[in-house]
Amino acid sequence: MKILAIDTSCDETSAAITEHKIIHSNIVWSQSSLHSSFGGVLPSLAQRQHQERIDFVVQKALKNAFPRHTIYGILHTKIDAIAVTVGPGLAVALAVGVNYAKDLALKYKKPLIPVNHIEAHLLSPFAQPKNKMLKMQMPNFPTLGLVLSGGTTILCLIKNIGEYEILANTADDALGEALDKAARLLGLGYPGGAILEKFAKLGDPNKYKLPVPLIGDVVKNRFSYSGLKTAFVRLFESIKNPTKQDIYDLAARFQNSAFKHIERVLEYQISHKPYVISHMLFGGGVAANVELRKRLRKICKNNNIIMHTPYSLKLCGDNAGMIGVTAYLNNKMLNAKKLKAKYGGKKFIESVDINPKLKL
Ligand code: KG4
Repeated sequence: MKILAIDTSCDETSAAITEHKIIHSNIVWSQSSLHSSFGGVLPSLAQRQHQERIDFVVQKALKNAFPRHTIYGILHTKIDAIAVTVGPGLAVALAVGVNYAKDLALKYKKPLIPVNHIEAHLLSPFAQPKNKMLKMQMPNFPTLGLVLSGGTTILCLIKNIGEYEILANTADDALGEALDKAARLLGLGYPGGAILEKFAKLGDPNKYKLPVPLIGDVVKNRFSYSGLKTAFVRLFESIKNPTKQDIYDLAARFQNSAFKHIERVLEYQISHKPYVISHMLFGGGVAANVELRKRLRKICKNNNIIMHTPYSLKLCGDNAGMIGVTAYLNNKMLNAKKLKAKYGGKKFIESVDINPKLKL
């Protein structure tokens, strides 16, 4: 099953060609530098950028995967289905990808598979690069799933593909959002997670005091970052004329408290697991963080759990490759005829719509 996948959920315009779990091409056009001067994503700018870029990005994804074919020939003969992110995300951004995908599906008479962006982050460790088979030990379900990104902080039980039980969700901010806000306060720019990571490496996490969220709480089925954020603002304001070293130390302290929270909830959920768990899938933009990976891998190892992350850092952030792989994993039992019957009707394609608040 060869899929043309499209994702425009936030500030990345992305298109990919996937075949089963293999990613043949994965083009990501990031707008983050355009949004950085606003300190966050500006919806009207994101919408305009997606509209201007989507055709180019899709054509490039097709060209990279099939260099010797014409674009229109490929769509007719090589692509079996189109997959598109319908949510969650920024409404005006999602709409650009969904409308574009609908037009293509109707024009070229291809099935259109709607995909949940959070599920795609969750399943992104299944993706395989072309030219190289990764030796990924297939997890036996149920398995743990952790998605940490700019909009999502979810620990879940994957009972099967498409069957998820939320074990812990955030009550307020997502981890990525909290890291971005901390970075902005320190004047490090947007998006801040990766920059904060670099600064934190040079800092002493014990120089300043900052609480670990919900430290006195016995209920370990939720995350919360709003209290930490407020405490961090207060701490920052209490330091007169911070030096460069202070900024490093503050970055290290914030990361430490924010990550400790994830570790505590994960440890609690593992020790209260309802089944024997031997694998954990970990995806989302924050999964690119080396320090966090190291900490979570240690917890997993201590509990005989193998942690799987995406095969490249590009696959941690928003990208259409994971959308194509997720569309395949949810429909791998369908042959071409059944795929057409489920997703190929004109009425069905026309009914596909954005759902900015879509849940896992
Ligand atoms: O998955 P993603 O690209 O978008 C969403 O679906 O939300 O995640 C973006 C988030 C941002 O908050 C960004 O600061 C964070 O991932 N991020 C990181 C790192 N790289 C990106 N956070 C911590 N360490 C990193 N290396």
